[in-house]
Amino acid sequence: MSTSEPVLIEPLGAPLRGVARVPGDKSISHRAVLLSAMAEGTSRLAGVLDSEDVRSSIAAVRALGATVDLAEQPDGSLAGTVEGWGAAGPRQPEGPIDCGNSGTTARLLMGILAPWPIRVELTGDASLQKRPMRRITAPLMKMGARFEPAGQETLPITVAGSERLRAIAYDAPMASAQLKTAVLLAGVFAEGTTTLNEPAPSRNHTELMLPDYGVPTTAGTRVASVTGPAAMRGCDLQVPGDPSSAAFLACAALLAPGSRVAIEGVSLNPARIGFVRTLERMGADVSTAHEGQDGKEPFGSIEVAYTERLRGCEVPAQHIASLVDEIPVLALVAAHAHGVTVFREVGELRVKETNRLAAVVEGLARLGVNAWVEGDDLCVEGDPGLVVPDGLALDSLGDHRLAMTWALLGLTGSKPVAVERFESVAVSYPRFLDDVRGLAA
Ligand code: S3P
Repeated sequence: MSTSEPVLIEPLGAPLRGVARVPGDKSISHRAVLLSAMAEGTSRLAGVLDSEDVRSSIAAVRALGATVDLAEQPDGSLAGTVEGWGAAGPRQPEGPIDCGNSGTTARLLMGILAPWPIRVELTGDASLQKRPMRRITAPLMKMGARFEPAGQETLPITVAGSERLRAIAYDAPMASAQLKTAVLLAGVFAEGTTTLNEPAPSRNHTELMLPDYGVPTTAGTRVASVTGPAAMRGCDLQVPGDPSSAAFLACAALLAPGSRVAIEGVSLNPARIGFVRTLERMGADVSTAHEGQDGKEPFGSIEVAYTERLRGCEVPAQHIASLVDEIPVLALVAAHAHGVTVFREVGELRVKETNRLAAVVEGLARLGVNAWVEGDDLCVEGDPGLVVPDGLALDSLGDHRLAMTWALLGLTGSKPVAVERFESVAVSYPRFLDDVRGLAA
């Protein structure tokens, strides 16, 4: 059931041209707020994403005793200071912490709170209350952390406090940066070296950032470790643009005839731009150019032009983590390509903000595109002559990335598309529509 009126997304009616910037990276913004809250002293942050998800992290650390003084800048980002709780630890909050829609907030907080002698109930919205949490609590319990109810899969869960954690070496069952980060952040306060091995490389922002906060850290391709107990100290940090938001502008340009855009100041961390590699393999006119470094994060521009003939490709399982949040929009591009595109081993999509695997197959079917799931693989049979049916209405199911994916259909095609629960874009990219329309002006 919809909670609001669907938004009718009208065709842009013009190619996308020019230069754009996207808001700060969501993963790095969460980590900047959370790690600064854990640290002793003041951190100065700039370029922080102002979105519902990041606001969940900000509200959480405030309730736990950090002082957050971040103000909106003319470009819409947040900048200012965070004064952490440092060696004193987080304070006992007055009530439960509501993480809203944000899996990153809830899961990272489990690792952050586990080493301290306080009790904190974590909860979230209806979507977050369905998402799996045992993958996080299981390794933390091996370290000596306590949760109530013990072994429960879904929120609300209380982090029930502990005195001293044990370092562990853990083989993660899936490539998840949230899992890796929760274990590493708990490991900061454990005695000895905590090591996390993963089956495929997930985003590595935590390992790149922790040394700047004074934590002895080592990082390899599928392994990261921290040595504790470490005293974290505040640092200065500039958040680069979010490649996951840039992907929507890039795919809009790719699908709208006559378009050519450059998106500047975007994180070009290889663990995040798998979508660019996939678009290249589909024959898209896309390139990246390095501009500099924000700390250890490389950033630069992504240039994309409309490409008339795209071809399907296979996306191997080892690459999935580097484009996991872009699969819905890549599936939409695949729907316009010649041949079949196969995304291997994407079962994790079932436990994102919604079941994105089912939602993509269903949405594409409404378009008349043949898409199906074989085991954990997603297959899309493209149709270069794809015509959007009259009066098409698609439901985002309250999932921000589905809302933007379905909106692209209306923006780049020749017929309006109604998107239900479109307001969910506020989770990661509140100005999405303005930014796309700005490029077509
Ligand atoms: C994120 C990790 C990914 C990603 C999510 C953000 C992070 O989730 O899908 O949007 O900031 O660590 P998983 O860790 O579940 O793969």
